[in-house]
Amino acid sequence: MANYPTQRLRRLRYNPVVRDMVQETKLDKSDFIYPLFVVEGDNIKKEIKSMPGVFQLSIDKLVEECKELVELGIRSIILFGIPAHKDEVGSEAYNENGIIQRAIRAIKGNVEGMLVITDVCLCEYTSHGHCGVLNGEEILNDETVSLLAKEAISHAEAGADMIAPSDMMDGRIASIRKALDYKGFTHIPIMSYAVKYASGFYGPFRDAAESTPAFGDRRSHQMDIANIEEAIREAESDIQEGADIILVKPALAYLDVIKTLKDRYPVPMAAYQVSGEYSMIKAGAQLGWIDEERVMVESLTSIKRAGAKMILTYFAKDMAKYLDKTRK
Ligand code: PBG
Repeated sequence: MANYPTQRLRRLRYNPVVRDMVQETKLDKSDFIYPLFVVEGDNIKKEIKSMPGVFQLSIDKLVEECKELVELGIRSIILFGIPAHKDEVGSEAYNENGIIQRAIRAIKGNVEGMLVITDVCLCEYTSHGHCGVLNGEEILNDETVSLLAKEAISHAEAGADMIAPSDMMDGRIASIRKALDYKGFTHIPIMSYAVKYASGFYGPFRDAAESTPAFGDRRSHQMDIANIEEAIREAESDIQEGADIILVKPALAYLDVIKTLKDRYPVPMAAYQVSGEYSMIKAGAQLGWIDEERVMVESLTSIKRAGAKMILTYFAKDMAKYLDKTRK
């Protein structure tokens, strides 16, 4: 490589057309998966206080929202259900007429061209807010895994296009794959939350999904924020168990993890820009301390640059509008 003065890196930065030409990472509408929260009732669109611009929606409003999304060019969503009734074993999670199952059917019946991914976990459905079946204060792994497989099947039966287990129990990908295949859903991909840290960034989500644990925390199953070797082992075991896509969560504080896994495994990768990441940007912008649009684009670009082609983000709609505005 030449050195200065022959080499001048600024040469490619003067002209905006050239800048655009040499831009290495470009965000595209197909990168984004929009998380949506569905609640019981009619005509409900309730903003989540800690997440401006994000709403709990009843099924009728959810269908409207999906139509708007398709119109904007956002073609995939991930659904979270908040049932009216919660119990010890989260039975609404695998009820064929549960909130999610009805929501999936409503979208599939009324919105053309929307890919529906479902979050598979029990924490939104259990009265104690934990991600599985309890014995005292302990989450039982294998008992929980059987329920998760049941939940995944009921989502697929309702018409889900992709299953995204977010619980972090051991062995759940193998069990869910086996259960789906046995029921004839061999074509349904699994996007595994393979590497999910026990993060403080999930705070606002727990308001949105009403899933704050009644006691304790999630450290007996979610990963220690300090670990990356463990992330490699988690990703590897999920890939071996049959995950089609692996996901890292949160995103911005774990770009090294995304990059490491991308370099190591030739598997499509996703990252979840979680609620706290969104809320911090919104709050900073509301205070006038940062420019929301720039920081939105910058954070999402960094996630894609690190190696995650798919990004679950509450900014999906804003990004679609931004891309319409800026791309000719
Ligand atoms: C669990 C789940 C959580 C999130 C997605 N799936 C919460 C948790 O693990 O406590 C968090 C997403 C976010 O913060 O935006 N079902």
